[in-house]
Amino acid sequence: MTYENILVETHGKVGVIRLNRPHALNALSAGLIEDLNKALEAFEADKGVGAIVLTGSEKAFAAGADIKEMQDKTFADVFIEDFISKWENVAKTRKPVIAAVAGFALGGGCELAMMCDFILAADTAKFGQPEIKLGVIPGAGGTQRLTRFVGKSKAMEMVLTGRMMDAAEAERAGLVSRVVPAAQLFEEALKVAATIAALSAAAVYAAKESVNRSYETTLTEGIRFERRIFHSLFATEDQKEGMKAFVEKRAAAFRNR
Ligand code: HXC
Repeated sequence: MTYENILVETHGKVGVIRLNRPHALNALSAGLIEDLNKALEAFEADKGVGAIVLTGSEKAFAAGADIKEMQDKTFADVFIEDFISKWENVAKTRKPVIAAVAGFALGGGCELAMMCDFILAADTAKFGQPEIKLGVIPGAGGTQRLTRFVGKSKAMEMVLTGRMMDAAEAERAGLVSRVVPAAQLFEEALKVAATIAALSAAAVYAAKESVNRSYETTLTEGIRFERRIFHSLFATEDQKEGMKAFVEKRAAAFRNR
């Protein structure tokens, strides 16, 4: 399937979605979000895909929601269509989604990256929530997710001033998992995604769900949830294979059973 605003390909068991509106620094138009959701849905349904990489160009992951498209909307428009709610599909995907960010990740672009499971950054990456300069605030989770990633003080400064954070600061603050040279970003993201895609899908889905649960509940409930899910994985053939392979000093061959 071909799309107008994104490029889609697979590399082995890794699905790749590249945001592709170069004339607008990958600004997230309604059409782009529609394409993105269709591509995510297709990868979710594809048994041959075990992990997804979401990336942009060298210059921009995404420079935010499309301001030209947004500027004339009224309160009734945005309220009735529940503007931005469709973006959340990224966060609802069960397969791991890795954001590979080079250049600008601003506004909705930063929020989209934060909806992914983790962010790998090029040393050229710049993150920011500049919505305040447009007379609005982040509307796709920025005030909530950025605060959980980097803490109140830094999130508040960024949201109130619109200041950008470079890759080194983003790594220090815990917004990104790692920074790599820009020329190696895509290759590194593919490598990490391929590593995950080769593991037991049940364990991967369970791990993702359990880490995400830590945002939604108390420590006691989160640990109980984790333990029950951990127990349940002993019902899979992949657990037997994984542990047997370790004892036999060979690589495990997971079959998603
Ligand atoms: C629409 C955009 C855009 C955007 C850039 N462009 N960002 N178009 N929406 N968010 C377009 C420019 O208009 C220009 O097109 C082309 O992309 C190149 O951009 P330049 O500004 O010429 O590039 P540069 O000088 O390198 O500056 C890069 C930049 C700047 C610093 C990233 O473009 C910028 O500040 N962009 C807006 C960032 C922003 O405010 N994002 C938050 C959006 S609000 P033309 O045709 O003029 O050449 C948001 C809310 C989400 O995301 C939450 C839900 C509501």
